[in-house]
Amino acid sequence: MGEKRSGDISKDLDNLKLTNEMDAPAFKDFAKEMIDYVTNYLENIRDRRVLPTVEPGYLRPMLPASAPQQPDQWQDVMADIERVIMPGVTHWHSPRFHAYFPTANSYPAIVADILSDSIACIGFSWIASPACTELEVIVLDWLGKMLDLPQDFLASSGGKGGGVIQGTASEATLVALLGAKARTVARIKKEHPEMKESDIIGKLVGYCSSQSHSSVERAGLLGGVRMRSLLPDAGNKLQGATLEQAIKEDIAAGLFPFYAVCTLGTTSSCTFDNLEDLGPVCNANNIWLHVDAAYAGSAFICPEYRYLMKGIDRADSFNFNPHKWMLVNFDCSAMWLKDPTWLVNAFNVDPLYLKHDQQGSAPDYRHWQIPLGRRFRSLKLWFVLRLYGIENLQKHIRKHIMLAKHFESLVRSDDRFEITQEVLMGLVCFRAKGSNESNESLLKKINGRGVIHMVPSKIGDCYFLRMAVCSKYTEIEDIELSWKEVKAAADEEFTTNGH
Ligand SMILES: Cc1ncc(COP(=O)(O)O)c(C=O)c1O
Repeated sequence: MGEKRSGDISKDLDNLKLTNEMDAPAFKDFAKEMIDYVTNYLENIRDRRVLPTVEPGYLRPMLPASAPQQPDQWQDVMADIERVIMPGVTHWHSPRFHAYFPTANSYPAIVADILSDSIACIGFSWIASPACTELEVIVLDWLGKMLDLPQDFLASSGGKGGGVIQGTASEATLVALLGAKARTVARIKKEHPEMKESDIIGKLVGYCSSQSHSSVERAGLLGGVRMRSLLPDAGNKLQGATLEQAIKEDIAAGLFPFYAVCTLGTTSSCTFDNLEDLGPVCNANNIWLHVDAAYAGSAFICPEYRYLMKGIDRADSFNFNPHKWMLVNFDCSAMWLKDPTWLVNAFNVDPLYLKHDQQGSAPDYRHWQIPLGRRFRSLKLWFVLRLYGIENLQKHIRKHIMLAKHFESLVRSDDRFEITQEVLMGLVCFRAKGSNESNESLLKKINGRGVIHMVPSKIGDCYFLRMAVCSKYTEIEDIELSWKEVKAAADEEFTTNGH
């Protein structure tokens, strides 16, 4: 076969021109329409049923069996949002959504994501997009200062420390565990040069509370190390003495304690482990202390809640999710490390195609995380910090806590109910006095009425209901309506069942 002439190639390329591709004017129309739709959706979210009523598999009959051969019109896509998507959406930003913990949402963060998706860079190294790395370093410093984190976590202190945006708190827990593993293996190798690395790893043991998030146990599984789950005290807090005892037992059994997780704001009941106590125990035993404040960490931007993070100076890494409670849309999990070199060294594979001339003068964040690729996530944090300002973010936190306390007082005013955990943040844990079964049935009724949505939890043998203040649109009237719903369901439950 002879070579193709350029005329032939042009013809071939002509045939490969995309047909009816969205052009710039259509993009503007589509995007404007979407912004109108989104604004209308969010401003009127209260009017939607919070939990959908669809059955599994609802969507398949509503969509064609295969993707279209030729492009659809954007107007058709737009029309399908209300027709096929919204019936299957759980409205996490409805003031009537009280399940789990909040996930954040705000206009500045949404707009920042448009920009991030348009720049669409992959910021795995400094040179891959210098602004992506440099803005992340700076805004994590801003945020660290907002929380009054110790200087040695901050890049601006000129030491080794610094911050990074992970996708989730689960990733942060795993990354910290891997750093801890690298640090301890290096130390034990020095102390016991005769030991094989695999034998050292087989003897590593990490610690958490039985109230830690399930992602901590999972980090142990993913990291190939043993994690020991310790019992918290009667108030559900992990205490230093419990950790100390476990360490003693494990050292006596020939194991190497290497990692501990302290949770500030547990998922079940928003309880705070005794960080002040755990820190010195970890430091004295060369144990990497990771602090998981996924939800409650946002509250530390308010000075009055920082007593709950007392002892943070003893930690090696600290993490919280601005994407939970600080108005930055998912995903934005802020993590600080005092000495990231353990991660950088542990994860350092350096192929030629990723090398660059400036290596070492700014972080190459690929070494601080599990994946290679990373989005320009610092933009949304930057937009939120600038367009709200610290004072408004503090007001947002304080308002949610005040609303939770109002709900608590309503619960306390009805002697059929009891509060099961001190209300410190935007979560109220409560139950009807009586059996777990009657509370399970009560929750079914509450959710079945279709107005509000809550999930339960259980600590030990005690089943309880969780009312999390989640939406940034929540007002006192919403909380009172949610309480009315609980009371109405209780009236039904207790009349029907003759309590
Ligand atoms: C204390 C705690 N840690 C970790 C997580 C997991 O968060 P992520 O979804 O960011 O991994 C949660 C989730 O609610 C949590 O409450």
